[in-house]
Amino acid sequence: METPAQSSPPQPTPPATAGHSQGGELIRIFDTTLRDGEQSPGASMNLKEKLEIARALEQLGVDIIEAGFPITSQGDFDAVTAISSEITGATIAGLARCTEKDVRRAGEAVKHAKKGRIHVFCATSKIHREFKLKKAKDEIIRMTTENVRLAREYVDDVEFSPEDASRTEHDYLAEVVHAAIEAGATTINCPDTVGFITPAEYRIMFEYLIAHVPGAKNVIFSTHCHNDLGLAVANSLAGVQGGARQVECTVNGIGERAGNASLEEIVMAIRTRHDQYPYATRIQTKKLVPTSRLVSSLSGLHVQRNKAIVGENAFAHESGIHQDGMLKNKSTYEIMLPTDVGWARSENVLGKHSGRHAFKTRLEELGLRLNDDVLNKSFEQFKTLCDKKKEIYDEDLEAIVEDQFENVEQLFKLKSLQVVASTNGTPTATVTLVDSGGAEITDAATGDGPIDAMFAVIQRITQISATLVNYQVRSVTGGKEAQGEAVVELMHSDRKVRGRGVSTDILEASAKAYLAAINRIRTLTKKTVSQGTPI
Ligand code: KIV
Ligand code: ZN
Repeated sequence: METPAQSSPPQPTPPATAGHSQGGELIRIFDTTLRDGEQSPGASMNLKEKLEIARALEQLGVDIIEAGFPITSQGDFDAVTAISSEITGATIAGLARCTEKDVRRAGEAVKHAKKGRIHVFCATSKIHREFKLKKAKDEIIRMTTENVRLAREYVDDVEFSPEDASRTEHDYLAEVVHAAIEAGATTINCPDTVGFITPAEYRIMFEYLIAHVPGAKNVIFSTHCHNDLGLAVANSLAGVQGGARQVECTVNGIGERAGNASLEEIVMAIRTRHDQYPYATRIQTKKLVPTSRLVSSLSGLHVQRNKAIVGENAFAHESGIHQDGMLKNKSTYEIMLPTDVGWARSENVLGKHSGRHAFKTRLEELGLRLNDDVLNKSFEQFKTLCDKKKEIYDEDLEAIVEDQFENVEQLFKLKSLQVVASTNGTPTATVTLVDSGGAEITDAATGDGPIDAMFAVIQRITQISATLVNYQVRSVTGGKEAQGEAVVELMHSDRKVRGRGVSTDILEASAKAYLAAINRIRTLTKKTVSQGTPI
């Protein structure tokens, strides 16, 4: 009897070594970390932090940076304006609902950009039409036409998104998309707003629109997937197979609810499975891990250890069988080279004999380009750390730089700290802070525990009362001399504010984190202690 012919399973190509992806039609990477990503609960960032992330995204090679939603707050408007004024290597987009006020505000914010885009959206699904907008189908089409036209008065590059496109009737979706193209939209983004669609359905939706909408061939179609069912990356890739040539995503997959499609996973899927996805992106893949770290520390959203590509375990092998395979040939258990995505395998990189040049070079290898002032302060902190710790790892260096960054706007600085913990006495903390005028203020307080006492005394000195809603401590590096990172979240006047601190001493890290949050509150409320009344 003849054996039926068998097709062999797909054989992944050996890991490629270049820093960017192979050839093929270009997939534009539209990063919305600063807009949809910032909508993650607890992830709000200040202007400096947003600019820092925008710079990193430009270096990473993203094509479009969605910098914010200008109508929502002065802070968002300022961030989009500042990013538009500085970043020239990527298009800068500002989001707007389908209203005149929104579009004009977004237009004002992106007008400084070398390449500016207004991203207009309007919900189209039956459920959104009836319950959220309470508008008829033709009214939505009219709003789309009017506002896309208005956006074109500000910029030539206008994106339109029919929100909840994935739950919209195909024929009506085609009508709205047609109206947007007629009005001058150059990109049509079809969001899976609630993370409901499956890959096969999403692909069919793009194929349908591209085949049925007049003028579809003259615009770029885009995916925008949320991860409620864990399908965001699979759906985005299916959308690309259906004809989309722009993918909207975020670093570390942060975003509303379960998040957005993760940038690093999409880029590495295209690169690693080029046999299935014969496309190119402009992403410098070696910068994926440093960018992920930066976003994680500035947004306060930690990356889970087993997260694909950028999680700490993504290239760690624990089982003996796997380790044995790895020693014989890395391709047995690794489908990508860790160095291709920015993992530094080198151990014990720097120590107390290292000079400034080596320090600066290593930071640059990690994607951290600092101005002279921050570099000098970071170097000083590095030398201090070398006295406490024999081996300095890349993670230590990143923590030092992030700490400097946190410190930039400190109105109160920690001078010294003495904490007494006891199983049968009352925990007490004595703290000395230096205010922005250079005055030293010392006070002491008791508490339920040493941390409670420390936070109480800081509240008393700074005269800001806030409620602690979240407090986390973790080790940034390994070993007994590891640096610890503390993150606190305080509630103040219905506003949640975050602070982060790093030190080899976990109590000091906690005090710094608490103080960073207090400083943020002070910046937000713009009051001074000299006014006397506690805020
Ligand atoms: O998820 C969504 O629908 C959005 C739109 C504003 C594009 O974020
Ligand atoms: Zn979204």
